[in-house]
Parts: sequence; structure tokens; C-alpha cells
Amino acid sequence: MAQSSCPLSQRTDVPPPVKFIAQCDREHNILKHLYDDIVVAQNKTFRKTTIAKILHILAMYVKFHFDNEYAFMLATGYPELLEHDQVHREFIEELQRINQNYLAGGDPYEGIREIYYGLATGHIPETDARLISFAQTMAATCPRTNCHRCGP
Ligand SMILES: [Fe+2]
Ligand SMILES: [Fe+2]
Repeated sequence: MAQSSCPLSQRTDVPPPVKFIAQCDREHNILKHLYDDIVVAQNKTFRKTTIAKILHILAMYVKFHFDNEYAFMLATGYPELLEHDQVHREFIEELQRINQNYLAGGDPYEGIREIYYGLATGHIPETDARLISFAQTMAATCPRTNCHRCGP
């Protein structure tokens, strides 16, 4: 029956679509700020431990953000979950590779720049945009009357 077909009606562990959209936006902005910190670190003579710390924070925050998107996709039965998650995994693996390479004496900046541009010009405006559009449709078409989870 229509009243029970909302996938989020019983869920309190994931945000409703409208909040998820705002949360994604905030997290994407924080990722941009972290990238800016890395650019600043590149232009200054930071200690190796400081740069390692920034890279570690970036890796943790990227994972935190991807986990939030994953939880929403899983809870809502998002049809592109597997493909989207695969791209997230590739970003995480690449970040781990850059971190290890940096700790072994390599330059992290080129790799970080590529990851950031991959996110800013590909993943966020295309792959994430389809997820956001799915969340918007969900909020607009929830079958439950005045649904406090999905409704605007
Ligand atoms: Fe994503
Ligand atoms: Fe994202």
C-alpha cells in the first residue's frame, strides 16, 4: 500500500532527501576547503608531518562523505548504487596510493590535483548530480501524505 512504500519512513539513521541534499552540498564545500589547504601547503615550507596530517584528514573526510552518500543510496534503493560506489572506491584507492607514495618520499600534489579535478569537474557535477536529482524527485513524489521524512 502507498503509505508504507516510502523507503525512508522507518529510517532515522539516514537524513531525509531534502537534508541529504544540503548535507552533500556542505560536504562538497568542505572538500574544496581541504583542497585549498593542500594548495597553501604546497606554496609554503610545511613540515612533512604537517602535510602528512593534511593528507590524512583529506582521506578521512573523503571516506566520511562517501559513506554518507552510500548510506543514503542503500537506504533508498538508488539504482546506480553499484556504479557510484565503484567510483568512490577508486578515489579512495588513489588517495591511499598518493599517501603511501608521499610517505615514501614522493610528491603528492600532482595526484591530489588530479583527484580534486576529477571530483570537481566529473564526479560532483555528473555522478553526484544524478543522485541529488534522485533525492529531489523522491522529496517531491513521496507517496505518503505529508511525509515528515521525504516531504519538503
Ligand atoms: Fe559520490
Ligand atoms: Fe559527493
